[in-house]
Amino acid sequence: MNVQTSGLFISFEGIDGAGKSTHITGLSEALSAKGCKVTLTREPGGTVLAEKLRTLILNDAMDVLTESLLVFAARRDHVACVIRPALARGEVVLCDRFTDATFAYQGAGRSFDLQTLTTLESWVQLGLQPDLTYWFDLAPALAAERLSQARVPDKFESQPVAFFEAVRSGYAARAEADPKRFARIEANQSIEQVFADVIAVAKARGYL
Ligand code: TYD
Repeated sequence: MNVQTSGLFISFEGIDGAGKSTHITGLSEALSAKGCKVTLTREPGGTVLAEKLRTLILNDAMDVLTESLLVFAARRDHVACVIRPALARGEVVLCDRFTDATFAYQGAGRSFDLQTLTTLESWVQLGLQPDLTYWFDLAPALAAERLSQARVPDKFESQPVAFFEAVRSGYAARAEADPKRFARIEANQSIEQVFADVIAVAKARGYL
């Protein structure tokens, strides 16, 4: 169910190393060129308070209930202060990760109770869901290879491949439960081909 107003809400998901970030910028530019007003944001984060919580979530060891509560606390602030107001103004909101990441990382990755996450989701979002979720899907072994050439890993990025296998299955379950919202993007292709697929999905939905 989507109880938002006139704007368009698009989220980007996938395991670490799947390469979603480049394409968020690319889609943002394509939408802006078409005259859309775009709000580019991310989770955890997107507000001053939520960015402070992000630092804790990505760096401090904590029990998975604490982690889930902090993720949803950050989301509450972000939804209330940034996402809903932008949608109410009729803008396009592009969000680097949203609640599917919580089901994938805390739920599937850290084996946390999905019913509790569903309750938190309804408290915080009150029916708000993305109109479209891009899921950049890549085999965890390939993602690990890409990450090893990148940067100093954070708490999640330094997890073993088995963790990302679980996270990937969490995304697959969310996609299966809501196939209309999800667009799976094959991330094991050239950057150009992945971006072409991203644009094709947006065009097919009439967003571009
Ligand atoms: P990411 O989006 O990959 O940002 P960056 O490209 O700057 O590393 O990192 C965010 C991390 O937070 C990622 O490892 C997934 C994790 N995460 C959760 O565990 N739960 C959540 O609900 C969200 C939104 C993110």
